[in-house]
Amino acid sequence: MGLVRLFLGSVLGVLGLLVNAVVLCNGGTTSAFVRQVEKTVDMPLESDVFHVPPGHNAPQQVHITQGDHEGKGLIVSWVTMDDPGSSTVLYWSENSKHKNKAKGTVVTYKFYNYTSGYIHHCTIKNLEFDTKYYYEVGIEHTTRTFWFTTPPEVGPDVPYTFGLIGDLGQSYDSNMTLTHYALNPTKGKTMLFMGDLSYADNYPNHDNVRWDTWGRFTERSAAYQPWIWTAGNHEIDFAPEIGETKPFKPYTHRYRVPYKASNSTAPFWYSIKRASAYIIVLSSYSAYGKYTPQYKWLEAELPKVSRSETPWLIVLMHAPWYNSYNYHYMEGETMRVMYEPWFVKYKVDVVFAGHVHAYERSGSPTISATNHRLIILDDLDLLFMVLTSVIWIWIIFFLFSKSDLDRRWILIVAVATTSIVAVAVVANICDHKSERVSNIAYNIVNGICSPVRDPSAPVYITIGDGGNLEGLATNMTEPQPTYSAFREASFGHAIFDIKNRTHAYYSWHRNQDGYAVEADSLWFFNRFWHPVDDSTSTQ
Ligand SMILES: [Fe+2]
Repeated sequence: MGLVRLFLGSVLGVLGLLVNAVVLCNGGTTSAFVRQVEKTVDMPLESDVFHVPPGHNAPQQVHITQGDHEGKGLIVSWVTMDDPGSSTVLYWSENSKHKNKAKGTVVTYKFYNYTSGYIHHCTIKNLEFDTKYYYEVGIEHTTRTFWFTTPPEVGPDVPYTFGLIGDLGQSYDSNMTLTHYALNPTKGKTMLFMGDLSYADNYPNHDNVRWDTWGRFTERSAAYQPWIWTAGNHEIDFAPEIGETKPFKPYTHRYRVPYKASNSTAPFWYSIKRASAYIIVLSSYSAYGKYTPQYKWLEAELPKVSRSETPWLIVLMHAPWYNSYNYHYMEGETMRVMYEPWFVKYKVDVVFAGHVHAYERSGSPTISATNHRLIILDDLDLLFMVLTSVIWIWIIFFLFSKSDLDRRWILIVAVATTSIVAVAVVANICDHKSERVSNIAYNIVNGICSPVRDPSAPVYITIGDGGNLEGLATNMTEPQPTYSAFREASFGHAIFDIKNRTHAYYSWHRNQDGYAVEADSLWFFNRFWHPVDDSTSTQ
């Protein structure tokens, strides 16, 4: 009788542990890192990062972006506050003393009771590839000189390093993010920005002075390397209550993009080539349904991408399609329904989004930052396993405390060992479920509506963790969905480091760590040239 009870108890024990394991069986890692939760506040107007450069009519808010489709062009933008001054840019290569001249244009705008400074935009064309140039703005009054390096000529094996920031804002945390990006030993050469720039619209009447402060704050990076712009919801500035009904007014006056070079008809969706990457920027806040300009453009654009010329196909957008935080949940869903089949068909390598103020990605399990081994079980999983094992051993011990001592101990040890192994196996299998997914089979009547493993799908990365005043998104859906490989509510930035046509190394850096620390990382295998299963992240 004792043995029967012992057997039944053992079976119960194993089943219990398997149930626990199923509960544990989530998509990936919810990072155990706990950020010190402090309120995210904007830096005051008198902060040093907002300082106005000295001198009469000195150019401020200087920023550059790519100015053509291939990377031989550059748009230089800046603001003068006192007079229109000159819109001319003088520029010369590092090895030349001859100063070239490019003429730009100047615009202003009004927003409720705010009048902008004189906003200059000047496109420089036909630059040499892979060359350092100096440029000077503020001609006729106070001049300021900056520099930039053009990308290498477009080609399939050209290494290139992109920085990634979204939802930056102008808080103390935003400042940390920008500093960490600048001091990361892996130097980003071009910033891919996922939208939501200044958050001026969080101020009364969308106080556009905060657009000016943001321009001065980001100048220390954006004047020296191109920032590739994506429009977010905080760029809409739609405020009919104060008579402002033209969406994107401050954004489009201040930030120019080379949309015409890719046959786009609006500055919210466009493409560029840069080194070995083809970058498509989409707008979550412009019409994207069938027959719309954005839809037609993207439909015509994707077949044009030559992976023999630009192996890496990267898409930027603001609202993520795959997001397991309880913020902005499903906001990207309607666009996903429209475009995801194309992303799979054309084998997009990676989609970067912002909007959710935290970090998350799909794809393979995390590579340990220190030894590049796979983390099969995170610390919480292990702790949970040990605790549940102890509890079940104790229950079995209690049930059979009056039966034969030796047999009892042997069985207890056997059951405990088997159980731990069973949990480890199940949890291990579950952790490996995190991988590239798509969700394109659903057609309303067939009921097939869950994401499935799909090696042709992009990796989706949400990096809206720049540090704006709205604070962190800390509330996550539980259990972690299988499409979510890693998530953490911390501010930070990321680096996408293309090595050649087959490999790129990606890393995410939280602001609380040292500049070189990778809190999350993985190898990307190009979907066109090296479409092997990357769910194990081995090279
Ligand atoms: Fe947003």
